[in-house]
Amino acid sequence: MAYSDGELLIASEAYAECGPPHALWTRLRRESPVARFEPPHFEPFWAITKHAHICEISKQPDLFLNSPGIVVLRDDQRLERTEGIGAMRTIIEMDPPEHRSFRKVSSAWFTPRAVQRVREAVDESARQLVDKLAGESGKGECDFATDVAAAHPLRILSTILGVPREEEPRILKLTNQLFAADDPELGRAAEDREAAFKQLGLELYQLFDKIIQERRAHPQDDLASLLANGLVDGEPMGPMETFGYYLITFTAGHDTTKNALVGGMRAFLENPAELEKLARDPGLVNKAVEEVVRWTSPVNYMKRTLARDATIGGQRLKKGENLVLFYASANRDEEVFRDPFRFQVDRDPNPHLGFGIGEHFCLGANFARQSQRALFRELAARLEHAEPAGEPEQIASSFVVGLKHLPMRYRIRPRAA
Ligand code: HEM
Repeated sequence: MAYSDGELLIASEAYAECGPPHALWTRLRRESPVARFEPPHFEPFWAITKHAHICEISKQPDLFLNSPGIVVLRDDQRLERTEGIGAMRTIIEMDPPEHRSFRKVSSAWFTPRAVQRVREAVDESARQLVDKLAGESGKGECDFATDVAAAHPLRILSTILGVPREEEPRILKLTNQLFAADDPELGRAAEDREAAFKQLGLELYQLFDKIIQERRAHPQDDLASLLANGLVDGEPMGPMETFGYYLITFTAGHDTTKNALVGGMRAFLENPAELEKLARDPGLVNKAVEEVVRWTSPVNYMKRTLARDATIGGQRLKKGENLVLFYASANRDEEVFRDPFRFQVDRDPNPHLGFGIGEHFCLGANFARQSQRALFRELAARLEHAEPAGEPEQIASSFVVGLKHLPMRYRIRPRAA
């Protein structure tokens, strides 16, 4: 199907069919880095494609607001966002000063030192997944997306959020439905999108509320307990706000990490010399993870809304207009990255914006880094051979983007004794 430029930037179907629009972004960065689009059936927006402009905007949270919403809505989605789960506000949809008070509830848990507390669980999850791939024979075929990449963050997030093992498959399905609502395979089948969205919210609420009540009665030393008992400006959070915090942590953490892992594996399949480089020098793993996040940019964009008239890149923008910060474009900006279309595990410096920047910089970045480090370290050490075993398939989503299937064939060494 032929898509207009505006559709290529924002329509889920266009991403499913064509993937992220890198050729278009490259042209926009060169010719029109602050460009207005009015694709049919979507709210109009300004596409921001340069690294410098995204930094400039993200560092002024009083002027460029998150509270009106962070995704570009299709006409039929506007109603969904006004009731039930759609009306729930999480920290990513708050502006200062409220945003800072809410972020403080959990920020101490996400520092690099603090995430070390779960390091053993994260490393063990990676080892077990690679063991499972290896099986008895040490060789086989898998769908890396569903068999490995989805399972790793699911296990870890469930551990820190107190989701019981037996509920893991259910929560995975529900969050997929929430995020990839437009994907025919992952989204929820329903005639009535609005009713399906409400029902989905209710099911997620029930699941998390059970954990919240349990952690209030019996607090432990984990993130689940911190959130369940969190105070904002000295007052307990309301039920929807506590639920929202669980949900944002789970949803913001799961698909993003999963998509980074799958996209990273695909990059290694296409650039086997980079995997060998990492295997020879495991000390490169931190840089490799940053490169995977730059390369894959799982959070494709965030929307901001202007609180007042302003000028960006010489364009006059008006109060109330939407700006879409395309991180994936900034992460290929040739003014910032040498050879931006080359995947290089030892890239240095690598000032990518895959985790955003400024006020809303990804709260879980250290956690996401640790999860990826564990898996890529294990794979680099043990993969003897890996090759594609079919066509990868893109998720129908323009917001959290990536592959839903990555068939691969492999040979793996047994776990070191
Ligand atoms: C590779 C994986 C990940 C990527 C690429 C990613 C990316 C992002 C981006 C781009 C933002 C918005 C930044 C901005 O507006 O400047 C964000 C925010 C956020 N992320 Fe992540 N993220 C990842 C993993 C995680 C994980 C594992 C968690 C939690 C365990 C998490 C929790 C959050 C939260 C709570 C926010 C909102 C922060 C705020 O509004 O203050 N993310 N993330």
